[in-house]
Amino acid sequence: MIKACIFDLDGVLVDTARYHFQSWKKLTAQLGFTIEDSIEERLKGVSRMDSLNIILDQGGYKATEDEKRILASQKNDWYLESITDMNHEEVLNGVQEFIENLKENGIKMAVGSASKNAKPIIEKVGIGNYFESIVDGNMVIKTKPDPEVFLKAASDLDVEPGEAIVFEDSYKGIEAANTGGFYSVGIGLESNLSNARLVIPNFIGHNFESITAALKS
Ligand code: BG6
Ligand code: MG
Repeated sequence: MIKACIFDLDGVLVDTARYHFQSWKKLTAQLGFTIEDSIEERLKGVSRMDSLNIILDQGGYKATEDEKRILASQKNDWYLESITDMNHEEVLNGVQEFIENLKENGIKMAVGSASKNAKPIIEKVGIGNYFESIVDGNMVIKTKPDPEVFLKAASDLDVEPGEAIVFEDSYKGIEAANTGGFYSVGIGLESNLSNARLVIPNFIGHNFESITAALKS
């Protein structure tokens, strides 16, 4: 029986994935190299420092740990700048109706995100009241594909992984959900999320009943 839903934030609840990538592109432009758009999928769900390492590697750019800290912080400043005026319009289409339906069905909800900016973003877009727990990148030791972030959220909600659905837009996040024993639902393209138990393009037209029925079939 499904008692809870745990949501990734970036690219699932809010349209922030593109701002992350734009900020990384700005950083690489400053460093004198460019990154392919195809790398964006690989950065989804990946912590800020791990993302930086992937990008520097791609550009063949060697940096000391001190320089890396400065670069990661510069990217974060740009990212925060780009989401300063963020409001409810940035909530992805169909999300508001979906979480409202879950609430009506008595389903517990949490957020499990790699982002250290998750809490202020959720407050900014005005959906904080729906979630009993927000586990973010400041609260875990191991990053996705480790299931720690989702296990913490499930424990906060007092449910077993087998009683919860995880919604994720990244391959690594789906891997984390699967390893943790959750039902995994990918948000995006089947081609990027082949490891998910179910993939939907977005939440438009979905509700608790349609998702649970699709997971059972
Ligand atoms: C994830 C994003 O949710 O959070 C990644 O998918 C991002 O792209 C990661 O790198 C860390 O985010 P932040 O806000 O702590 O830099
Ligand atoms: Mg995401």
